Amino acid sequence: MAAIVFKGLTKTYGTAVAVDNFSAEVQPGRVTGFLGPNGAGKSTALRCLVALATPTKGRTRILGRGYRKLKNPQTRVGVVLDSRGFHPGLTAYQNLRVLTSMGGIDKSRIDEVLAEVELADARNKRVKGFSLGMKQRLSLASALLGSPEVLVLDEPANGLDPAGIAWLRGFIKSQAEKGTTVFVSSHQLAELETIVDDVIIINKGKVVAAGSVAEVTGGERLEEAFLRLTGSGLS
Ligand SMILES: Nc1ncnc2c1ncn2[C@@H]1O[C@H](COP(=O)(O)OP(=O)(O)OP(=O)(O)O)[C@@H](O)[C@H]1O
Ligand SMILES: [Mg+2]
Repeated sequence: MAAIVFKGLTKTYGTAVAVDNFSAEVQPGRVTGFLGPNGAGKSTALRCLVALATPTKGRTRILGRGYRKLKNPQTRVGVVLDSRGFHPGLTAYQNLRVLTSMGGIDKSRIDEVLAEVELADARNKRVKGFSLGMKQRLSLASALLGSPEVLVLDEPANGLDPAGIAWLRGFIKSQAEKGTTVFVSSHQLAELETIVDDVIIINKGKVVAAGSVAEVTGGERLEEAFLRLTGSGLS
């Protein structure tokens, strides 16, 4: 069974079509890259997937169900979307404590996940003093709290410095080695190429290619294939 399914997903905002009859599947235990130019509809599709937006048409499934139908969702699916809000006046620890309380997760996980994202030193700092990269790490930590089977990451490299991006590569690889399904959107194509098994490419709300990296690129660099498939290369 696919870990994630989009079936005829359409999302419109007024007359604008953000996602247009989008169908795709993410296979379990694999790292799948979700690529597309700015405005292609990636974040909208991911928001529909985790019930932060309501589809206009079609449906999404994650681990066989609609996200809202999952029991203990924090232990099934970890989510990092750019819109994720933390309370600025609370520390990293306190923010995660709110989430463990809500999710019924043992609070011993907090220090484990802070160590995993290399944020242990910032444990007692207020989030309002965090850099973008630190907030991104805290988002990853929050997604890991429930030791989920699936990670949905929308541009997790956003705000990370080169060392942070290298760290993220290792992080995603280690999650995959544990058998976690990772669905990750990114514009860092050279970076992504080294960690993904499969890719789904979306343009103007529609799928333009999906499959293993080899199938989609046919031996080209991922960036070349992307530019060709999305028509955003030089003609
Ligand atoms: N809440 C909203 N209201 C109106 N239009 C929206 C809303 N959210 C997204 N859109 C529009 O939907 C389209 C797809 O946006 P989306 O954020 O899903 O793209 P994306 O692929 O994530 O782009 P990026 O790579 O820049 O993050 C864009 O045209 C955007 O302007
Ligand atoms: Mg986006």
